[in-house]
Amino acid sequence: MWTGKKLTESYLEFFKKKGHAIIPSASLIPEHDPTVLFTTAGMHPLVPFLIGQPHPEGKRLVNVQKCIRTNDIEEVGDASHLTFFFMLGNWSLGDYFKKEAIEWSYEFLTKVIGLDKNRLSVTCFEGDKDAPKDEESAKIWESQGIPVERIYFNPKEDNWWGPAGKTGPCGPDTEIFFDMGKEKCGPKCVPGCGCGKYFEIWNDVFMQYNKTDAGKFEPLAQQNVDTGMGVERTVAMLNGKATVYDTHLFKPIMDKIQGLSKNDLLKSKRIIADHIRSSCFVLSEGKGIVPSNVEQGYVVRRMIRRSIRHARLLGIEGRFCRKIAEVVVEIYGAEWPQLTRERELIFLELEREEDRFSKVLSNGLNRFGRILQAKKKISGEDAFLLYQSFGFPIEMTLELAEEKGIKIDKKIFEKEFEKHQDTSRKATAGRFKSGLQDQSETTVRMHTATHLLHAALRKVLGNHVQQKGSNITPERLRFDFSHPEKVTPEQRAEVEKIVNEAIEKAIPVKRKEMGLKEAKKAGALAFFDSKYAPEKVSVYSVEGFSKEVCAGPHVENTKDIGKFKIKKEESVAAGVRRIKAVIE
Ligand code: SER
Repeated sequence: MWTGKKLTESYLEFFKKKGHAIIPSASLIPEHDPTVLFTTAGMHPLVPFLIGQPHPEGKRLVNVQKCIRTNDIEEVGDASHLTFFFMLGNWSLGDYFKKEAIEWSYEFLTKVIGLDKNRLSVTCFEGDKDAPKDEESAKIWESQGIPVERIYFNPKEDNWWGPAGKTGPCGPDTEIFFDMGKEKCGPKCVPGCGCGKYFEIWNDVFMQYNKTDAGKFEPLAQQNVDTGMGVERTVAMLNGKATVYDTHLFKPIMDKIQGLSKNDLLKSKRIIADHIRSSCFVLSEGKGIVPSNVEQGYVVRRMIRRSIRHARLLGIEGRFCRKIAEVVVEIYGAEWPQLTRERELIFLELEREEDRFSKVLSNGLNRFGRILQAKKKISGEDAFLLYQSFGFPIEMTLELAEEKGIKIDKKIFEKEFEKHQDTSRKATAGRFKSGLQDQSETTVRMHTATHLLHAALRKVLGNHVQQKGSNITPERLRFDFSHPEKVTPEQRAEVEKIVNEAIEKAIPVKRKEMGLKEAKKAGALAFFDSKYAPEKVSVYSVEGFSKEVCAGPHVENTKDIGKFKIKKEESVAAGVRRIKAVIE
């Protein structure tokens, strides 16, 4: 059987033999990228290296990356959409290009996985005003034995990847499809058709352009390769399973849900399985993310609440999330030790959110009753108010109304809802303004300030202080760290003073590449969660002050930072504090 573990290990091993360094999965919470909430692809944490910064592990990298995509969250429940998934990827940072990338994809698929080459077909970029037709890739496919009839050309919407934000690295891609043996659904059925005949197995992106703010595609300084293969869907395909939910990666979760249910609603079971699994992984990151009304915390809240709603439809009463999460930890805990380590925190946060939501529900029910008593009906606006002010889900309002034989004008609700969506869309659009990674001068200065802050906190509070998360925007830096109690005003002033002293001393910031063991021995702060810890790392040091393993970038001298000021200190979760600071 092709397990997720076997597929992952075969992939990593294959590319290791081809000279790639196995790098750890980055956190699901982007470390220095304020423009997106979650890591969405393996290439995402590698953006600085795709645009030219040298990577300490070399020019050939491979990994399995934890990813979350929430764009299609409403689609979850069908056969294929997932919010959380594992992505296998290999990268060339200005090293090999199309020939090797395609040859190795072909070799892996036909020799390692053993797919029938006669059932493979590929798509390539057809060319437009921004970039020429990708004849080169097509020729390489032909040389591997893929006949021209099975090589298709498509426009940008199908065969171009990125940038992930508004600007950044991108380029033409070539997608590889496996024929599942079904009849064509019609004369227009070609690879990319959604009928199920063609399974998209892998995507090789040739990142050779940088999309600028002005919408221009400029050649990148280096020609990169970025590939991506989804673990769950590939495992389903390899084992002849119709959906990811039928594989060993989900089946025990689905069975548990069924065991607790009184009904058998497939879509509801899938939603719960997906959402609780995602929530477990986010909560396990140890970044102080808990269900809340903002940012990543809001996504987790939404997923838990949606699960609870669907659990009700299934006839599941009372708390149940922990029971599902226990199965998630059991399936994935050995490969992803942070799940096991943080299991109690995961269970606790899930239960707390269940309790909070049950309060929301009873308040909403109360309110519903009162509106009904006063007006003898529930209008679309009322339904929206219940949703907006009490977090009471529209589906529940509709359900209750139906029970009482009342009709709600859903159109009015939807109109109100859209107005609200529009406002929040505008608010989130700002997050994508600066492209995938904001590498402006201000954020670089704040990044170095973060290192000084980390070191100063350890000096003042003690060595139990560990970075739990960091988020930098051009306006402020935010730093989460482990510490059991409030930082006193005196301690806060002392931390600020130490950071500003280091800035005034104008100390050079030096980068050195070394082995991870050597870095730790030299006293560099390094916290890695993955089984695949990197062998070689970059260590940034501020002589006599701070030494930290980090991808960078940083200022050259501490004097470039400016004056450092702490604006706020607060709690984010049990044992995790947060500091917001600015530089002036
Ligand atoms: N970045 C590409 C994708 O997400 C290849 O990894 O498909």
